[in-house]
Amino acid sequence: MRTNAQGIIGLQWGDEGKGKLVHLLSKDFNYIVRFNGGNNAGHTIVQDANTFVFHIIPSGILHPSIIGVIGDGTVIDPSVLIKEIEEANAITSSVKKRLLISNNAHIIFPWHIITDKINEENRTHKIGTTKRGIGPAYCDRVSRYGLRMRNMKQPVTFLKDLQELIAEKEIYLNKISSKPIHLDSKQICAEYLKYAEILSPMIKDTGHILRAAMKNNKTVLLEGAQGALLDINYGSYPYVTSSSTTIGGAISGTGLPPQSIQKVVGVAKAYVTRVGEGPFPTEQNNDVGKLLADKGHEYGATTGRPRKCGWLDLPALKYAVEINGVTSIGLMKMDVLDCLKEIPVCIEYKNGFSSNFTNVEPIYKTLPGWNTSITKCREYDKLPENAKQYVSFIENYIDCKVSIVSVGPDEKETIIR
Ligand code: GDP
Ligand code: IMO
Ligand code: MG
Repeated sequence: MRTNAQGIIGLQWGDEGKGKLVHLLSKDFNYIVRFNGGNNAGHTIVQDANTFVFHIIPSGILHPSIIGVIGDGTVIDPSVLIKEIEEANAITSSVKKRLLISNNAHIIFPWHIITDKINEENRTHKIGTTKRGIGPAYCDRVSRYGLRMRNMKQPVTFLKDLQELIAEKEIYLNKISSKPIHLDSKQICAEYLKYAEILSPMIKDTGHILRAAMKNNKTVLLEGAQGALLDINYGSYPYVTSSSTTIGGAISGTGLPPQSIQKVVGVAKAYVTRVGEGPFPTEQNNDVGKLLADKGHEYGATTGRPRKCGWLDLPALKYAVEINGVTSIGLMKMDVLDCLKEIPVCIEYKNGFSSNFTNVEPIYKTLPGWNTSITKCREYDKLPENAKQYVSFIENYIDCKVSIVSVGPDEKETIIR
């Protein structure tokens, strides 16, 4: 059994800086696989003042030798994927030849997006979804109504299935909507047949390809989307996304055996952000929160929504480290804390830890800030003492080494220990 796969997993409520880290670490890998979620994700890479945001293509694709895989556990909006392929092709070579799409990945259709919007309007407790149709597409997957990317390779049956589905979905939409909804069958079928023609050459049995590659000593990086606290099982349910964002999702979402994963890099911000609704015990809905949002440019990479900001939540981080078997941490956005004289961190919840994060009251310990810019620092030993103390405090609490400290958005603004 080869053990040359490595996972990169968000440990908070998403947007931890996975894109930056994946791009940085994937240089040394042969394959990079997105294993969960869809274009609800927005993974940012900053390279020499150029910014790229990937929503569904793996973030390592800018390295010209890498093979990108969109794995079994994903849901794909073909129109978004095709646009992203074109954009990536404009900056790096032969993306179409280097991108493989799992035949098991599910297709997002217009009715998923419409349903997502109607559900958000109708429900009392709003989730604050990205309205990209993610939940309804996964819903169809588990209720066995979905169509998969493999269906696109059989245009005659795909068209027939599509026509049947459109008729059924139109009835369904009109049941849940207060306004009449018409699905233009002819137009949707034409559109999706066109997508099928473009994407078919890339649709493969990616699980088989990855297992064979591993046998040939190729290395595989597994790129998680969202974060542990948005996981469908382990997150702050129901304020979560609809996929397995944790390391288990990297197995069920790729077809690789569990023993193949040698290392799991957990990605955490030095503070916490959240976009969308749901509990956030350490949220600072005040001037400090605004300061973190301004300094960290905390606006969603997918929807542009402002992200709520708060202090680092160590009980939640420890929980995420344990679920994922994290072997080392990438601590991101340390530079955002530069201007603070004191930095509180949550060390306990008053009534004990609860993984749905409701009715919890954080207890803080205040650590001294470093109050100087660390953006230009490239060596761990040269960080201010208080910054190193902040890192050590986290390491001791979660019992896991911080192997990477990120001090700015650019890939160069990174300290590797
Ligand atoms: P992802 O979804 O986990 O890939 O994270 P996003 O790309 O949605 O959000 C992270 C944001 O923080 C992006 O705008 C990154 O360019 C930026 N970023 C990443 N690392 C750092 C860092 O160390 N410092 C600062 N200031 N920004 C960072
Ligand atoms: P990346 O990969 C942050 C949040 C949404 C909402 C909840 C459900 O960039 O870290 P969904 O559209 O998935 O049904 O929305 O999950 N959410 C994210 N928040 N980063 C993401 O991805 C997210 N993907 C979904 O805001 O609260
Ligand atoms: Mg993001």
